Amino acid sequence: MNKLSRTQVIGIASGKGGVGKTTVSVNLAVALQLMGERVMLLDADLGLANAQIALGCRCDYNLSHFLSGEKTLQEIVITTRAGVRLVPGASGMQEMAAIGELQALCKPSVNLKTTLTT
Ligand SMILES: Nc1ncnc2c1ncn2[C@@H]1O[C@H](COP(=O)(O)OP(=O)(O)O)[C@@H](O)[C@H]1O
Ligand SMILES: [Mg+2]
Repeated sequence: MNKLSRTQVIGIASGKGGVGKTTVSVNLAVALQLMGERVMLLDADLGLANAQIALGCRCDYNLSHFLSGEKTLQEIVITTRAGVRLVPGASGMQEMAAIGELQALCKPSVNLKTTLTT
């Protein structure tokens, strides 16, 4: 890839769980990083995110903290051992797993947890 070109975005998705999205995403991210690219992986899984586990890192904060307005994107991004920067998805949080389309589109300044529980 031409390093002077604009940021490339690669989306990996499927309508079904357990088909290998995380495996492909993590391996592709690490491979591109090893090739000299600067890679950021955004785990958009809001139910059972596990890219952080596959990359062998511990995350105190994740996408749910950004969506709720508690943290900025910069505060939740971590640099993994492979050098890939990761925006961790959410895991084990009922309100995130059941997030609606409108809520997902809300500005991060909106406190999602408060919105959902009131
Ligand atoms: N190509 C593959 N061959 C065999 N098992 C795989 C392959 N890709 C993924 N798996 C396994 O399938 C399971 C689900 O993979 P995962 O990447 O977490 O799926 P998803 O992110 O789509 O839910 C994991 O246990 C993973 O190790
Ligand atoms: Mg996954």
